[in-house]
Amino acid sequence: MAEIGSDLQKAITLLQSDELVGIPTETVYGLAGNALSTKAIAKIFEAKDRPFFDPLIVHVSDIEAAYQYVTHIPEKALLLAKHFWPGPLTLLLPKLPIIPDLATSGLNTVGIRCPQHPLTTQLLKLLPFPLAAPSANPFGYISPTNPQHVNQQLGNRIRYILDGGECNVGLESTIIGFEQDQPIAYRLGGLSIEQLEAIVGTLEIQLNASSNPAAPGQLKSHYAPKKKLIIGNLEKLAATHAHQRIGVLAFNRAVSGVDMHRQRILSPTSDLSDAAQHLFAYLRELDQLSVDIIIAEEVPPVGLGRAINDRLKRASAQ
Ligand code: TXA
Ligand code: MG
Repeated sequence: MAEIGSDLQKAITLLQSDELVGIPTETVYGLAGNALSTKAIAKIFEAKDRPFFDPLIVHVSDIEAAYQYVTHIPEKALLLAKHFWPGPLTLLLPKLPIIPDLATSGLNTVGIRCPQHPLTTQLLKLLPFPLAAPSANPFGYISPTNPQHVNQQLGNRIRYILDGGECNVGLESTIIGFEQDQPIAYRLGGLSIEQLEAIVGTLEIQLNASSNPAAPGQLKSHYAPKKKLIIGNLEKLAATHAHQRIGVLAFNRAVSGVDMHRQRILSPTSDLSDAAQHLFAYLRELDQLSVDIIIAEEVPPVGLGRAINDRLKRASAQ
């Protein structure tokens, strides 16, 4: 198992020798390595069993740092960065050669994000290089939202996890790219489309690019538990599957007739931020219970609700 602690110097020493460290962000925990080192980047892909065609996000401490790794920042990208960084927003920007092709899977853009977590901000400020960091889970599984999640699955592959507590957003960053300087959303996430549109106007949304190997976060099946997950009306599903042991992931109220130990309620007060924050941890807990299947319901499709529903759908895809 990896050590969990808050020793920044230890994290720095490991990262400087091309080792990987689990790091907290406001979205999910990342599996971080030196983004300028092909050796560290290769270790990230290996530790996650991640296919090399799935590019990594590069984390920086602020906008000024981002300029060191991209040819330029389009006007609308800069506007978004100024509004939402640090925060759950990744911008796809034209990369400079200093970012290894291995990090971007040969693409000419690099995903850049300035995360909002005091420990990681400090870490990034102290390091002489940016951090490549995918979510710290085996490829295709549910993303980790606390250090124990990271340790459960990658603890035998890394030595240290920085303890930043529970992630307070709980969904991965929203990914925005640009075509002729027009913003396009490629992944729904912790920053809602409504918040983005308030700044740059109507956004084109291109999800489900399952034929596009450059963006596996958009693959149909991703973020998935090992148990079969079915989405629909909970009462009906509970009745249909009454002969099985069911785990329930409900939005705001329990389902009658199912043992409460096997039910998780995302937000009893119907708060979508709370629901987002709990989503992955609850899915994990249900996956680890002795249940045959998990049933879940969609949440209202507004704000973070759209990203929550997107993750539920991908988690349920076979
Ligand atoms: O919130 C987050 O973004 C977290 C934390 C750790 O920062 N990271 C994260 O990374 O979710 P990961 O690797 O699990 O997901 C990154 C997604 C992948 O689906 C990848 O295909 C896409 O970002 N991506 C990265 N760079 C890209 C690029 N240049 N073009 C298109 N897609 C890109
Ligand atoms: Mg991921």
